[in-house]
Formats: sequence, structure tokens, C-alpha cells
Amino acid sequence: MNILVTGGAGYIGSHTCVSLLEAGHTVIVADNLCNSKRENVEKIMQITDKEVTFYEIDLTDAKAVDVVFRNYKVDGVIHLAGLKAVGESVDMPLAYYYNNIVSTLVLAKACQKFNVNRFVFSSSATVYGDNTLPFVETMNLLPTTNPYGETKAMIERILADISKANPAFSVSILRYFNPVGAHESGLIGEEPNGIPNNLMPYITQVAKGKLEKLRVFGNDYPTVDGTGVRDYIHVIDLAEGHVAALNNLTEGVHIYNLGTSQGTSVLELVKAFEEANSIEVPYEIVDRRPGDIALCYADASKAKRELGWTAERDIIAMCRDAWRFEKNY
Ligand code: NAD
Ligand code: WQD
Repeated sequence: MNILVTGGAGYIGSHTCVSLLEAGHTVIVADNLCNSKRENVEKIMQITDKEVTFYEIDLTDAKAVDVVFRNYKVDGVIHLAGLKAVGESVDMPLAYYYNNIVSTLVLAKACQKFNVNRFVFSSSATVYGDNTLPFVETMNLLPTTNPYGETKAMIERILADISKANPAFSVSILRYFNPVGAHESGLIGEEPNGIPNNLMPYITQVAKGKLEKLRVFGNDYPTVDGTGVRDYIHVIDLAEGHVAALNNLTEGVHIYNLGTSQGTSVLELVKAFEEANSIEVPYEIVDRRPGDIALCYADASKAKRELGWTAERDIIAMCRDAWRFEKNY
């Protein structure tokens, strides 16, 4: 199939392009490069030895999006483009609502106009809020406390309504847990701007000596060692989840958790990173980060049952691959 990957130059998008190409699909990337680099598209081609068509466009620009759909017979869309920094979204709500919502509306309209009926969307475990654990797709969603999370919940509802009116519009909503790691080539990976907000890139930068020490946000949570617990998933497993979702898409709306169903605490991740890479990660315990929940992990059994997909790579592989990319980068 000809798959339009929005945000395909970004962290998860670039790995998803690799998996799609390896599965035999043709890939067209649309990205405005607001949080990524053009070189990533070249690296995707280098890894796979396959061609990728690249459009540097803003998805809120309906005319530019139309051109892509006119030039290619698009069989399906994987929509990853979006702004994703939780803290930034609190300071710049309008930018987040505008970018994430309008780009999705423009894209959905183009799908309607050009009769494209396969749509896969990047959602987030953040839509569960502070629900009981493990998070299951059937749960009522809770407020996310930040505009970023609200855009994900709103887009899920928008896509569901479109599909309700036209069930031929087949939608797969993928709720990612905590994506980490990188392609084993070390060519593509996570490249945060400035000081990282997320744990794994912070750890790799401390290991490299770019940052002095990790600040562990709280050790008084009701968890195994008091530090926050998350369901880390290797970005390659996540990328393969997109291919499984696309290949198994049927009419209507389908929601899948993409996680490992396993929780790892901050200190467990630090220890695994040190063991996997034989390198020390100095840290100190500081206050809790506002807005954090104690635990977050998936019940990922629906994706296994319906898509035949399970995450295979363990925490050690995640730490090794994240570090290889950081060293190369
Ligand atoms: P990323 O920033 O690396 O990739 C997003 C890409 O979208 C970037 O290349 C950016 O340039 C592009 N983009 C943003 N707005 C655009 C627009 N209007 N037009 C065209 N391109 C635009 O982020 P990522 O980590 O790869 O995340 C991909 C998707 O997955 C996002 O939707 C994000 O919200 C979602 N997600 C990410 C995580 C995570 O922890 N990384 C977790 C859950 C969900
Ligand atoms: C993980 C754990 C922190 C940094 C965020 C978004 C979520 C999703 C994934 C997009 C927590 C602790 C972190 C640090 C620390 N993104 N931590 N020191 O908060 O689970 O999820 O990214 O959809 O929406 O909220 O991920 O990596 O920031 O934190 O102690 O310097 O590490 O408190 O327990 P989080 P994270």
C-alpha cells in the first residue's frame, strides 16, 4: 500500500517508516520539520535501501495537503504529526490546540475528498488520566490536566464521530505508553530540543556528561521503591505495532494500547541502564514533578488478541539502543 506518514521525520515516525518499508509498503512522508530534521528521511532510506517521497508541508495548510493526495494514490494514512511537550502545552495552549486539532481536521477532510478509508492515529496513555491500573481500552477517559493530553482525547472523539457517520472510514487509535530506545543502526533515535523532559533522553545525556546528574522526581509514591512507575516500550516494537494496526484495519473505530503491560520504576530503569551499558548514572532525589501520576502501565492484551502484536524487546535492549544512538549523535 501507499502510506502517507505524517510526522514521518520525527522520532516515532522515522522508525515507523522503516517498519513500513520493511513490510513492503511504499512511504510518503509529510512533515514541516518543526521538531525534526530532513536528514532523518535520508537515514530512513539508508537503513532500508528504499525510496521515500518527502513533502515539507504544514498539515494545517489544506492546499498543500491536497497536492499530496492529488499526486499519489494514498491507500492509508498514519497520522503522527503533532506537538507533544506536555509542559509547553500548558504555556502555549492555543498553539497546541490549533496545530494538533486543525492538522487532523485538514487530513480527515482530504481523506474524505479522496476516498481514503484507512487511518491510524497516534494517541497517548495520557488520555487515561489517573485511572485504576492496568489501563484498559474500555475505561472511561479522565481529564489529563494539560492541553496536549486534551488534544489527544478530542482527536479520538473527532475520529470516532467521523467513522460513526461513515463506517467505511476505518480508524485505529493507538495509545502509546512510554516509547524509548532507537533503531539498532544508531542512525535514528530521539533528539529532544534543549534539556529533555522525558526520563530516557535525560539519562542518556547524563551518561554522556552533557548533564551533571539525573533528578529523580519523588521517592514517596506508593510504588516498589517510591519512584514513578511507567510502561516503557521499545520504539521498534511500537513501529511494528503501526504496521500490525494498518494490516488488520477493519471498518469502524478500534482502540489499542501499545505497551508491554509491565511497569518499571525510575530507579529500576537507571539500574538497567547502568548494567546494560556499564556506565554510571549519577542521580539525586528531588520533589515530585507537578502533574505526575504514581503508576502507569497497560493491559496490552487486546492488541495481542486482535492484531497478533506484542512488544518483544526488553528494558535492557531499550537502554542499550538508546545509549548507542546518544553516543553516535
Ligand atoms: P516528534 O516531535 O519527534 O515527531 C512529530 C513530528 O510532527 C515532527 O517531525 C514535527 O516536525 C511534525 N509536525 C508537528 N506539527 C506538524 C504540522 N502541523 N505539520 C507537519 N508536521 C508537523 O514526536 P514523536 O515523539 O515522534 O511523536 C509522534 C506522535 O506520537 C505525536 O503525535 C505524539 O503526540 C505521539 N506520542 C508520543 C509519545 C512520546 O512519548 N514520544 C507518547 C505518546 C504519543
Ligand atoms: C517518566 C518517569 C517522572 C524525568 C510523558 C507524557 C506522556 C507521554 C510520554 C506523549 C516519571 C520520572 C522524568 C526526569 C524523573 N508523551 N522522571 N526525572 O511523564 O510518564 O509521560 O511522556 O504522549 O503524555 O506525559 O514520561 O519520561 O517524562 O517520565 O524522575 O528528569 O520518570 O517523574 O515518573 P511521562 P517521562
